[in-house]
Amino acid sequence: MPIPIQIKNIRLQNHPSARSQAVATVPITEASKIISVDAFAAVLIASEKGKRCDGCFQIKSEDRLLRKCTGCGSYWYCDSICQNMDWKAHHKKICKQYNKFTSSNAFHSLASHEKLESLLLDHLLSQVSSITGRVDEEMSPLGIFMSLLPGPTVPNRDVLSVCGFEPPIQPDTVPLLYSRFGNNNFAIHSHLTTIGHGIFPLASRLFNHSCIPNAAARYIFSAGRPVRMEVIALRNISPDSEITIPYLDPALYQTRQQIFDLTYGFRCTCFSCHILETLGPIPAPPASSPELTSIEKTLRQFTQVESFLDGGLPVIPQTNIPLSMYCVFHENYITNLSETFSKASHEGHYNLALDSGTTLLALYLLIYPPNYPQTGIHLLELAKTAWNMTVGDSGMDYQTEQATKARVRVFLSLGRRILTVFGPEGDEDGPLREAETLQSLLDP
Ligand SMILES: *[C@@H]1O[C@H](CO)[C@@H](O)[C@H](O)[C@H]1NC(C)=O
Ligand SMILES: *[C@@H]1O[C@H](CO)[C@@H](O)[C@H](O)[C@H]1NC(C)=O
Ligand SMILES: *[C@@H]1O[C@H](CO)[C@@H](O)[C@H](O)[C@H]1NC(C)=O
Ligand SMILES: [Zn+2]
Ligand SMILES: [Zn+2]
Ligand SMILES: [Zn+2]
Repeated sequence: MPIPIQIKNIRLQNHPSARSQAVATVPITEASKIISVDAFAAVLIASEKGKRCDGCFQIKSEDRLLRKCTGCGSYWYCDSICQNMDWKAHHKKICKQYNKFTSSNAFHSLASHEKLESLLLDHLLSQVSSITGRVDEEMSPLGIFMSLLPGPTVPNRDVLSVCGFEPPIQPDTVPLLYSRFGNNNFAIHSHLTTIGHGIFPLASRLFNHSCIPNAAARYIFSAGRPVRMEVIALRNISPDSEITIPYLDPALYQTRQQIFDLTYGFRCTCFSCHILETLGPIPAPPASSPELTSIEKTLRQFTQVESFLDGGLPVIPQTNIPLSMYCVFHENYITNLSETFSKASHEGHYNLALDSGTTLLALYLLIYPPNYPQTGIHLLELAKTAWNMTVGDSGMDYQTEQATKARVRVFLSLGRRILTVFGPEGDEDGPLREAETLQSLLDP
């Protein structure tokens, strides 16, 4: 079957098990932008409503006060440009019914993720109904969207039936759209915190998932424009290599295959999933603290996290993992370790914080691919923690202070390198800016 989509520097070619794969046609360098796509439809999560512009997703600030839509009182905009953009795209179809819809019993009976789906579906349907006539254009967002493979999710009747407005499109189209919706629905994030969901048909059509991806999506919010997804190369990609992105957090070791089955209708066969399969069932982490300490030690030795802290970050292959370490792949393990780190750091238990934070870094090196943004943000948190330690302890002797500052420098430079690859994204003040601020405190 011919593959009509043509994108600069990418070729879609046949894939042994999947429908197709996007491969690089030229060398793509680390940190470069592979594609940039506007959201075809997007919706804010409930907790962000009123805090961001519903049109461009920029956050409210002293310089950017939001104005309410006078029709429904439930959509907020920076200005008339954003409002007009949203009105034309979908809001004119939704405004009148919005409140009746969201206060209905049917809507209230939905789980919160279903509410979000229902609203996003509303935006999508309104959007689609405004552009009928262009449906068969292969390169239009809708044409690409309709060319996506349907997911395994059976359209949820409730979500469909409470769908607030009646679109002037074939009722049959609704399930067709919906079946392509669950598996092609991206979480939109700012500094890795989810703020909304959106549909980016071209990105769905091009990129398959990998748990060790060589690219990742960042989101850009700018005045008067829809949210934009940019796919960034996390490392150099050579010609003929497949370009992959994460559909979900690779740290979800135990649940990810299940999520793929249920939501996406495939099993991931990446190298990491292959290794994981050879490990067999993952044992729960031990409850006793001497045993946990011994596992932490093994993990740190395996990744040599302490020795590289002076140089660059190594790539740790997920091979030859000692049996005693299997439990680090248990999701409880990473959850508890992150909680311990962040609690200790904010409560000022700096030694515990740096200790658990270093173990967590070792785990990140094991599970995430090089330059993964989560690792960059964690390194920045470690740098801030070590910095707070030097500030918070006035009785610290000179040597300890110098040694701690040296650690701040190492964490910060490793973290900045990764954050620079991912580049500026999301809201204005982010980890990159924080890293610069800390750097100027460190070396005034
Ligand atoms: C992604 O790749 C897997 C194999 O790793 C395959 O089973 C799946 O169908 C692919 N998905 C898409 C959307 O191409
Ligand atoms: C992690 O925390 C949960 C809840 O606090 C606890 O039940 C569990 O035993 C902890 N696991 C480990 C490995 O510490
Ligand atoms: C560092 O200290 C500041 C000021 O006390 C605090 O707001 C911040 O949360 C601390 N950061 C970390 C990572 O502990
Ligand atoms: Zn706006
Ligand atoms: Zn309105
Ligand atoms: Zn995988």
